[in-house]
Amino acid sequence: MDKNKLLIEKKETVVAGGGPKRIEKQHASGKLTARERLALLFDEDTFIELDAFITHRSTNFGMDKIKAPGEGVVTGYGYIDDRLVYAYAQDFTVIGGSLGEMHAAKIVKVQENAMKVGAPVVGLNDSGGARIQEGVDALSGYAKIFYANTMASGVIPQITAIMGPCAGGAVYSPALTDFVFMVDKSAQMFITGPQVIETVTGEKVSAEELGGSMTHNSISGVAHFHNVSDEDTIAQIRRLISFLPSNNAQRAPMMDSGEVEGFLEHLDNFIPESPNKPYDMHKVIQSLVDHGDFMEYQAYFAKNIITGFARMGGRSIGIVANQPMVLAGTLDVNASTKAARFIRTCDAFNIPLLNLVDVPGFLPGTEQEYAGIIRHGAKMLYSYSEATVPKVTLITRKAYGGAYIAMCNKELGADVVYAWPTAEIAVMGPQGAANIIFRKEIGEADDPIAERQARIEQYDNEFATPYKAAERGYVDDIILPHSTRARLVDAFVMLEGKRASLPRKKHGNMPL
Ligand code: HXC
Repeated sequence: MDKNKLLIEKKETVVAGGGPKRIEKQHASGKLTARERLALLFDEDTFIELDAFITHRSTNFGMDKIKAPGEGVVTGYGYIDDRLVYAYAQDFTVIGGSLGEMHAAKIVKVQENAMKVGAPVVGLNDSGGARIQEGVDALSGYAKIFYANTMASGVIPQITAIMGPCAGGAVYSPALTDFVFMVDKSAQMFITGPQVIETVTGEKVSAEELGGSMTHNSISGVAHFHNVSDEDTIAQIRRLISFLPSNNAQRAPMMDSGEVEGFLEHLDNFIPESPNKPYDMHKVIQSLVDHGDFMEYQAYFAKNIITGFARMGGRSIGIVANQPMVLAGTLDVNASTKAARFIRTCDAFNIPLLNLVDVPGFLPGTEQEYAGIIRHGAKMLYSYSEATVPKVTLITRKAYGGAYIAMCNKELGADVVYAWPTAEIAVMGPQGAANIIFRKEIGEADDPIAERQARIEQYDNEFATPYKAAERGYVDDIILPHSTRARLVDAFVMLEGKRASLPRKKHGNMPL
């Protein structure tokens, strides 16, 4: 037989995956196939497949008679906006995308090759988990992937999309990566499924409720992005990659910045007169960043803090911003964990940080104390202190107490701190402060209510301003809101050459 023809036939068998019936079933459940997903992920016709001929070598439970084209996972590399990216896509049409020894070996090769050349890895997961027939060999495969995930952490961006089932220990590879996307309705992640839960604890829960995309995006915080379809997920992965460098030795690509010098008059009277009236920090972000383009990270989790990627003057930046609309913008356990993880992600990949501060404090109460707000809040202090990327802080309104520090003040390493004239930088809010320091005067007054009000105003005028902090140099400048975009863009340009290093150590011991 013609040897070239033989090769073509063999490749066609691999490309056919689990065959038309299973592909039909995949489409009927609203999912694309592994190959269709990769074709969408990469720039047209740039995907180069690797290891198409790899095959399992299991003989248990009739496996010697089962052919698994491509071993249930398609692997290789290609280009996204002309930048090299490695990827693997599990093929549910082949033994349910289940992971055996050689399936894992294909994924690990992608991880190692990507590390060698400093390119991101995208994993598209759609799998029944450990291939049951392969027993401990499948577990060994998972462990090798977890190890490679950990070695690659902080070196190359690792992105996972959950596009089907992801159960048992299989969830830990995604959890070890930097970004987790989930597809609404198709994706489920859980350590133990609904049936086992019911058997063990009697609790009845649907798979969607237990581990669907909204559960992990809004409740557990396991996922970072909620997407409505396969197509949407892949488009958002491509968008995310545009904000990231290919590895930790590079910077993210520069893009067109749009207008920078323009005045933003609407910001001059944006902060409400009343200190207790909320406003939407998203609107401030949209006004400040290039083209108003903001890719929010964990948009549905701990909404009292906003995190995400944008550009200023064409440079990719990470934004951490209090949201006065939710819990008055206080920091709680989830907000602290979300922000700390995001800060470290940005720092690992040389993405400068912009911190927008309007924070009345840490959320008080037994619920938070018992949940460990002390150790979780400490993560923010730790991650900001440790971050060597340029850090620019803008205080729009409240900056009180420990939370003011936790949002990256000067001493925690902010390179530039700006405040709007509406900023209130103090140990605590005027009401609480007046009650403590003027307790005697208020108690002895003929009219304690009027006295209290007068003392609050006294404190307000003297301390709830940015001027005391500026007098000491804790704030570099107080700026008019309309000039903010131009000033921030300028700050990031000025900080372009920042060099900072940490003391030599094996690794720090961040409170977890
Ligand atoms: C071997 C598997 C498989 C698995 C699915 N298949 N999962 N084969 N090992 N883990 C096969 C099915 O036998 C079937 O083969 C084909 O894939 C498609 O599966 P269906 O069941 O027909 O699909 P569907 O109805 O959509 O159900 C999908 C599913 C279900 C919910 C994922 O297949 C399922 O429950 N699978 C088992 C999940 C599981 O318990 N995995 C182990 C988790 S523990 P045929 O030939 O009939 O088409 C784990 C530990 C990891 O992963 C530890 C790491 C440290």
